[in-house]
Amino acid sequence: MAEVDHQIATWISNNILYIVLALGLIWFLKKNVANLRRRWFAYFMHLFTKEKDAKVEEMKKDLFASMKDVVSQDPVLRKQNSIRILEIGVGTGVNFSHYPDGSKLVVVDPNPHFKSYYNDNRKKFPNIETEEILVTTGEKMDMVPDNSIDVVVMTLVLCSVSGTEEIMKEILRVLVPGGKFYFLEHIREFDTEKHSIRQKIQEFLTGTGLWPFLFDGCCLNRDMLPAIEKAGFSKVNGERFYAPINSFFFQIIKPHLKGTAEK
Ligand SMILES: C[S@@+](CC[C@H](N)C(=O)[O-])C[C@H]1O[C@@H](n2cnc3c(N)ncnc32)[C@H](O)[C@@H]1O
Repeated sequence: MAEVDHQIATWISNNILYIVLALGLIWFLKKNVANLRRRWFAYFMHLFTKEKDAKVEEMKKDLFASMKDVVSQDPVLRKQNSIRILEIGVGTGVNFSHYPDGSKLVVVDPNPHFKSYYNDNRKKFPNIETEEILVTTGEKMDMVPDNSIDVVVMTLVLCSVSGTEEIMKEILRVLVPGGKFYFLEHIREFDTEKHSIRQKIQEFLTGTGLWPFLFDGCCLNRDMLPAIEKAGFSKVNGERFYAPINSFFFQIIKPHLKGTAEK
């Protein structure tokens, strides 16, 4: 045994330089591959969201329609007929056209590579007041004060977060009493009798890690409604449905969940 230990120690001391170089290379690749993946994902989302799909926009219009009836609990904003919206995981900023004129928008996203796309896009909406992206996750929004937000919006985000429960707690913390949470997510197949093949493909692509690797941790096999229902909102209205997605490739994310919840 002592002989083996001695041989190992000798091998390590003879190769210490290579070991340090190999560890350095692994560290460098890990850091930069993650960065490259995030850069690629931001670019992909930019390409994917550049052209708006009329049917998807119609569905969002319907989902967000009640936002115009929200009255701010901030007396200053109320006087201005304005509301404060927090969008979590804003990406390139695809929901701006659905926000009431004069809305004040706070946004968070952990991927800094979205900044340039978001900044280009927000220039097209002078009717709403947007702020710089706060680079953080929905789980850690300490910079957003308690009871300060009238409306929280989150679209296509929970598929890739690790802390759904923490995000729900943060949403409840920042919303004013009676404040509204609007959500839209792609989910796992819910009609497994009719669409068992889609469900199997979703499990395969997620289980092998292929889809999460390509799309920034996105999982195809989640259903977030139970977590939203359990979070402690006073009212939850969630609906599972098939989104009007035509692209053959994205039939895999056709099962969706949409709704609102109230603090
Ligand atoms: C599929 S994109 C959707 C972007 C945009 N909401 C939309 O509907 O097009 C997912 C977004 O969630 C962000 N994201 C990922 N993990 C997050 C987390 N833990 N908290 C907040 N946002 C997150 C990503 O950086 C990305 O912008």
